[in-house]
This record gives sequence, C-alpha cells and structure tokens, in this order.
Amino acid sequence: MVKICCIGAGYVGGPTMAVIALKCPSIEVVVVDISKSRIAAWNSDKLPIYEPGLDEVVKKCRGKNLFFSTEVEKHVYEADIVFVSVNTPTKTRGLGAGKAADLTYWENAARMIADVSKSDKIVVEKSTVPVKTAEAIEKIMTHNAKGIKFQILSNPEFLAEGTAIQDLFNPDRVLIGGRETPEGEKAIQTLKNVYSQWIPEGKILTTNLWSAELSKLAANAFLAQRISSVNALSSLCEATGANVNQVSYAVGTDTRIGPKFLNASVGFGGSCFQKDILNLVYICECNGLPEVAEYWKQVIKINDYQKSRFVNRVVASMFNTVSNKKIAILGFAFKKDTGDTRETPAIDVCKGLLGDKARVSIFDPQVTEDQIQRDLWMNKFDWDHPIHLQPTSTPSNEKNVSVVWDAYEATKDADGVCILTEWDEFKKLDYQKIYDNMRKPAFVFDGRNVVDCDKLREIGFIVYSIGKPL
Ligand code: NAD
Ligand code: UGA
Repeated sequence: MVKICCIGAGYVGGPTMAVIALKCPSIEVVVVDISKSRIAAWNSDKLPIYEPGLDEVVKKCRGKNLFFSTEVEKHVYEADIVFVSVNTPTKTRGLGAGKAADLTYWENAARMIADVSKSDKIVVEKSTVPVKTAEAIEKIMTHNAKGIKFQILSNPEFLAEGTAIQDLFNPDRVLIGGRETPEGEKAIQTLKNVYSQWIPEGKILTTNLWSAELSKLAANAFLAQRISSVNALSSLCEATGANVNQVSYAVGTDTRIGPKFLNASVGFGGSCFQKDILNLVYICECNGLPEVAEYWKQVIKINDYQKSRFVNRVVASMFNTVSNKKIAILGFAFKKDTGDTRETPAIDVCKGLLGDKARVSIFDPQVTEDQIQRDLWMNKFDWDHPIHLQPTSTPSNEKNVSVVWDAYEATKDADGVCILTEWDEFKKLDYQKIYDNMRKPAFVFDGRNVVDCDKLREIGFIVYSIGKPL
C-alpha cells in the first residue's frame, strides 16, 4: 500500500487529500498539521473549513484510508510520497517585504522531512511557491539527507474555494513538473499513477520543474488580470452609460476570449491572487525585468482602485457624508460558498466607511463575529492564519461595528446597504420588507451585480451597481 502524508491541513491540504483518499482506496493518506485545533476540527463533525461537498467526502473515508494527525514526524517518516501544502504568505519583513513569498514554513517542513526520513521519498510541492523553489528545497534536503534520496516534484493546485470538490473531481488539468532525469521521470510516473485513478491521461500534463512552478503563478496572474480588466472597464461604463454586463457578454462571446471570469465586482479577494502576483512582480524585479514587473503590478493597482472607488461612491452618493449613518454590509467572505475572509474586499470597504465615521452592521452566512472583528482590527500583515491568533488592539471606533446573524437585522434602520459577496440568498431577500424598515432615501450599492436593479428601483431604492447606468 502506497502511503501519502500531506503537511498542512488547510484549504488545499484538507480537500485535496480527502479526494485522493476517496478516489484511491488502496492508498493510505494522512494529513498532518502543527495546529492542534485544526486537526481536532478535521476529526470532528464540524470541519475547520466550509466547502460544499467536503463533509460527505471526508465522512466516507475518514478512519478508513484518510487520517488527520498532529504527529507530523511519525507520518512523514512512514510515507512514500510527502505533499507539502503549508501556507506561503507574503513576506512582512526584511528583503522583499510586501512582495516576496515567505518560505519559512516551507523550509521548516523541508528540513524536518530530511531530518526524520529513513527511506527514499518523493516530496511534492503543493503550495504555490516562487519559480526555482524546488532548487532551494533540493539543496536543503540533500545537504541534510544522510544518504537518503529525495525527488522533488512540483504539483501546483488549481482548485478555487467554494467549488473545491468539483474542481478536484474534474480538474481542467493536473500539472506535474519534475527533473528531466530517469529518477525524476520515475517520480513523475508514480504521482501520475495516483491521479490517473480518476483523471483521464490527457489531462495530466508533465513539464520540467520550473515550468510547473511558474505556470501556477502565471495562471493566477491571468485570472486576476481578467477581473482587473473588466473592473477597469466598469469605471468607464459608469462614466459613459455603457453597461458592463453587456460589454462582458459581447467581449466574452469571442471564442478566443471566452465568457468566464469576466464579472465586474467590488474587487477580487482571496488569499492567493494578490500574494501570487506580488510574488511574480518580485521575481521579475530580481531577474532585472522592471517593465514586466510594472505590467503585472497594474493588476493589483486596479484592484485597489476598484475597492476605494466603491467606498468613494458610497460616501459621495450619500451626500458626501456617512458620519453616524448605519450601513448594512451583506457578505463578508471573499466570494460565495466559503467562510474564508483572507484579503476579502469587505475589509477595505468596511475600513473605508468606518474611516468616514459610518456605523456598519455586517451579516455573512458563513463568517463568525470573531473572524470579522479580527479582520477589522488587526494589521493586515500581523497574521496570515485566521485560526491561531487573537486581535492585538481595540480601536476607538470598534463600537461602530456590529455583526448580526440575519440580513433583515443588518438592514433595519439602515441608510444604505452594500452587497459585498454574491451569496445566492441575497438575490432572494424580501427587498420590500428591507425598504420599509430602512431610513429614506434608502440606498443599495451592489458590489457584485446580483440584485435586479429595476425591481429595486420600483420599490423606491436608489441603486448603484458596478459598471451600470443609474
Ligand atoms: P492554510 O493557511 O489554510 O493552510 C496551511 C496549513 O499549513 C496551516 O494549517 C498551518 O498550520 C500548516 N503548517 C504550516 N507550517 C507547518 C509545518 N511546518 N508542519 C505542519 N503544518 C504546517 O493555507 P492554504 O489556503 O491551504 O494554502 C496552502 C498553499 O496552497 C499556499 O501556498 C497557497 O498559495 C496554495 N493554494 C491555495 C489555494 C486556496 O484556495 N486556498 C488554492 C491553490 C493553491
Ligand atoms: C483562485 C483561482 O481561481 C484558483 O484556480 C487558484 O487555485 C486559487 O485562486 C489559488 O491559487 O488560491 P479562489 O481565490 O479560491 O481561486 O477563487 P476565485 O473564484 O478565483 O475568486 C477570486 C476572487 O475574484 C473572488 O473575490 C471573486 O469574487 C473574484 N472574482 C472572480 C470576480 O470579481 N470576478 C470574476 O469574474 C471572478
């Protein structure tokens, strides 16, 4: 029986390994993490992450060929294949701070693998890492290996949160990069044998290590670039009377462009797009390519612009002041069907409104009050792991934030409503009831273009959408 150990039981490690266990009953999969609370949650009825379909997969395999454990070294020692799926956040200090990826967690994991191993192993980079990381990891491992042989593979993950299980069941492709040597090719084949249990051969791409590492950063950069492109156009739509939905549709029907990922929004969030583009920018700068770095930097700049433009629009349209006005925030997660708030645009929007002295009342179906308070009151770079840390300071305008468990409660007596996550339930709310309970004039700022503007205007709302005529 092949044994797999995955270091890191997060948004990637947990779902990815659960699906491998489900599809490969003859493989034993152990997911390990240094966080006791995370592992305890994976072993409980309330999993540490909300992801549609995940509960069922975990229930089917847990205790059979899928295990979650804090005994990191023991399971690494026993494994034939070790996936490393630890976090690789943006560096906050020192060389490259604010751009480069912080590989501390990765390096610690690599040193530990070298330390405890007594048999040859395949080590798989699952985390998103800068191109050439495998070379550094190889060096660390071979210098500490005591005669044991390691083959490093790059197998970046392309799942998106909210659709992780269907993405893992039916990915567009699986990418495996390895050394172009007989040992490297053998390792690639071993990993290919795992995926080929459920993924057609033609979808498993193999490349050299550096192409695989770079393709992951490139894919995220391309995806984010599409959003920044359509968001940049949304501001022009607002200035000219064009409708961004119509423009997206017209542009996306060109088969060379394609219809997906062209939804204008308040801005993209999530733990990866910004981090990975900053990382790409840093790599370009380090390789003497400032023009290329500048090109990708614009994707982030437009995203920041889109978020601040949204706040400015709220304040400007509410007669240039939101001081002491109640603004309901519907949705705090960075997208629907997840409770993840890392880099969510809601943080910037709430902070912007609070800066203008508004009172915000927040409702999200999957985000806890604790999480929201941490997000609003901790410095952006003070933490990268929502579960471990507590807020460090209590700013004076904390009293201006309330977190409630119902959209109707959030909007009661409010002057304005900001929709910041495209949860399906926000489309089905009783907007007449909401309108009746709000102060007048009642404003809706739809940051996700989910409501029927005409219907809401008929009720009496003043509605602002992204990139649409008033
Ligand atoms: P995460 O923060 O949810 O999980 C990482 C886990 O690794 C944490 O639970 C942490 O405690 C654990 N960890 C850190 N160091 C460890 C060590 N030495 N030993 C054992 N456990 C350790 O992160 P994530 O969202 O799962 O992302 C992981 C990687 O995958 C990142 O590089 C990210 O860029 C990439 N990625 C993420 C997504 C996504 O949707 N979140 C998608 C594709 C790729
Ligand atoms: C993204 C990629 O889609 C995954 O392929 C990748 O594996 C992952 O990053 C990663 O490396 O972490 P994710 O961030 O989970 O996945 O979710 P997306 O669906 O890509 O959405 C990201 C953000 O863009 C969200 O805030 C979403 O609301 C926003 N978005 C997306 C738009 O504003 N418009 C769109 O048309 C699409």
